[in-house]
Amino acid sequence: MKDLALDIRVEKTQNSRLSEVDFNNIPFGKIMADHMFVADYSDGKWHDLRVVPYGDFQLGPATSSLHYGQAIFEGLKGFRNAQNPSEVLVFRPQENAKRLNVSAERICMPQISEEIFMQGLHALLEIDRDWVPDTEDSSLYIRPFMFATDNFLGMRPSETYTFAIITAPAGKYYSKALKVKVEKEFSRTAPGGTGVAKVAGNYAASLLPAKLAAEQGYDQLLYTDAKEHKYIEESGTMNVMFDIDGTFVTAPTVPVEDTILRSITRLTVIELLQDMGKKVEERHISVEEVISSIKNGKLRGAFGIGTAVTIAPFATIAEDGVDYDLPTDYTFSLELKAKFQGIQKGELEDTKGWTYKI
Ligand code: PLP
Ligand code: COI
Repeated sequence: MKDLALDIRVEKTQNSRLSEVDFNNIPFGKIMADHMFVADYSDGKWHDLRVVPYGDFQLGPATSSLHYGQAIFEGLKGFRNAQNPSEVLVFRPQENAKRLNVSAERICMPQISEEIFMQGLHALLEIDRDWVPDTEDSSLYIRPFMFATDNFLGMRPSETYTFAIITAPAGKYYSKALKVKVEKEFSRTAPGGTGVAKVAGNYAASLLPAKLAAEQGYDQLLYTDAKEHKYIEESGTMNVMFDIDGTFVTAPTVPVEDTILRSITRLTVIELLQDMGKKVEERHISVEEVISSIKNGKLRGAFGIGTAVTIAPFATIAEDGVDYDLPTDYTFSLELKAKFQGIQKGELEDTKGWTYKI
């Protein structure tokens, strides 16, 4: 085991569930690995860092995060290194640590040091490394999260918190190209709101519109700006990118817009595209521009980008009750996905230091 500078107590489970898992058929997010990392915060400090068997938290009914939503999370993935299968490669975890702190600041939660985040992750994956699948399109999905734990009904930031990391082996999130609907009635966030943060409430706000869209046969939504519903922002679980005549267009994030989550997959994809000599534009893109480019044949393809979904091509974009089908012969997003996953899995050289080895 690597020497970790922090004092992390490790308690191994006596009842591993690993042998019960069918790694050829892994539903997303349902089966959790054997252990979790946990740290508690009180009196202005993180303490009691531990890796313990995955299990329930004990919470009082007045736990403030259950009432006022002080809860944030992250999502990242680990893979078996193709060059050395006993090693785990985690993709850009330091970026998730940074973003967790952006989210924490936005809803008055304490910062967590990159040291605790990284060493907690390291200690956890050292013990659960056999949970990292090596089947096609699979990974270990890693979910760090923090929530308020004060037992207090008054409306103020909690003074105590728990930070934890759990993991779950995962197969594909989507198995086919998506039908997405431009959403003009509901918003998941608004300027000055919490869109830039990965706070639980954003996801609660997107449940009803996603449910209504699913009833109409759509897999996901394309949220538009809350003011005019004119510009495309992002989807409920991913940023989005449009290939218009070979230029890759995606909506701007902070500091231009604070309504869109700054996707780490997107940062990566932009760099990969630029390295491939492609033109990328981070700018406002109107619904009208997207629909007219479909009509005049300039929209070659469109896709969602995010950790859970990786790169998810769109088959159809719907606006005002009309379905517009995208070209079915668009293969570039799959090429891009193969490159992206090749780096994640250690099949292609990681020239940028994106992967963290455990
Ligand atoms: N946008 C939203 C709303 C998300 O939930 C996610 C998923 O994390 C993303 C974008 C993609 O971000 P990332 O690539 O960092 O996973
Ligand atoms: C992720 O991609 O990690 C996400 O957070 C999406 C999730 C809501 C499933």
